[in-house]
Amino acid sequence: MELGNRSYPILIGEGLLDARALFAQHVPARDILIVSNTVVAPLYLGALEASLRPRRLLTSILPDGESQKTLANVARILDVLVANRFGRDCAVLALGGGVVGDMAGFAAATYQRGVAFVQLPTTLLAQVDSSVGGKTGVNHPGGKNLIGAFHQPIAVVADTRTLTTLPRRELRAGLAEVIKYGLICDADFFDWLEVHLDELLAGDAAALEHVIRRSCEIKAKIVGGDEREQADRALLNLGHTFGHAVESATGYTAWLHGEAIGAGLVMAARMSRESGHLTAPELERVTRMIARAGLPTHVPDVRPEVALQHMRIDKKVQAGRIRLVLIRRIGSAFVTADYSEPALQRTLAAHLG
Ligand SMILES: NC(=O)c1ccc[n+]([C@@H]2O[C@H](COP(=O)([O-])OP(=O)(O)OC[C@H]3O[C@@H](n4cnc5c(N)ncnc54)[C@H](O)[C@@H]3O)[C@@H](O)[C@H]2O)c1
Ligand SMILES: [Zn+2]
Repeated sequence: MELGNRSYPILIGEGLLDARALFAQHVPARDILIVSNTVVAPLYLGALEASLRPRRLLTSILPDGESQKTLANVARILDVLVANRFGRDCAVLALGGGVVGDMAGFAAATYQRGVAFVQLPTTLLAQVDSSVGGKTGVNHPGGKNLIGAFHQPIAVVADTRTLTTLPRRELRAGLAEVIKYGLICDADFFDWLEVHLDELLAGDAAALEHVIRRSCEIKAKIVGGDEREQADRALLNLGHTFGHAVESATGYTAWLHGEAIGAGLVMAARMSRESGHLTAPELERVTRMIARAGLPTHVPDVRPEVALQHMRIDKKVQAGRIRLVLIRRIGSAFVTADYSEPALQRTLAAHLG
């Protein structure tokens, strides 16, 4: 997949963790550290190790959960690399969801100023979003993802079979980002999702493979564009200014990120309608898609005025005004600071509290 001048393969398919030849081709390192967590390692570490033998394999198995995405756990990964005197020619492999990927990537970015890194994403969210683009990092008590670095993987290997054990709630949360890609720039993909949503929810491998491939293509195209085209990258925040407000207003505990983004996408669509950019039937289509995916379209535990406060302190605020990503029509998003405050308040009131 093309990512400007730093392209790397994104391999997607059923059973790829068992594909020895694939690892022989794409992961040349002899010394390998596999980073995973206590939930994923018992399920998939054995298969991965079998595909990598007979190399020198080490593991760093971290506790599970977003609260574990810390500098302290990155230090644990680095300690293993140092204690075993791994050189610059080693590789760090991330086997897990976005939390493991972000930490392993940050460790790989900083060990000896950067060693090879491979993403083996095992959640839908990681397969369609966090494993592509090169953002790595950890949370700080002062804020989410405050500490990090860009470090591109040498390869991404997404085995769709890992999704068979993923909790359904996590699968649905990942679908929010998939729906987002359709809304941003691909109306045909959105149509396809409407037709095949039930297969996706049932875990159909071929349908999942298709959405992962198309999602990675879209994300790679947007983040791989000219470094100066920051405007394009901002489109990936569709639904996120609203969604982040829901997450922070509820203390990051009540809703998964993808669930908050599901509601955020509906609010972005409503705001687009309120601003005269989207037709009523299109707003209805977006709302129905989110609801069918099992994601919330209404968040009763957040008051509109509280959400607005959180939106104002979100990092997208420039010159005191919140910049929003809106949709002109399904498949075409844009960034604007030109909208009416009453429209924003009506939007929040329609979906919150
Ligand atoms: N780097 C980026 O560009 C980027 C983009 C989006 C999100 N993120 C980050 O990604 C993180 C969220 O990632 P996530 O949604 O994958 O969460 P996660 O990594 O916490 O995984 C969700 C849960 O599923 C479990 N799990 C993972 N794979 C499994 C499998 N195959 N079977 C059973 N259980 C499995 C995990 O152990 C965890 O309990 C956040 O920290 C977010 O900031 C990063
Ligand atoms: Zn997101």
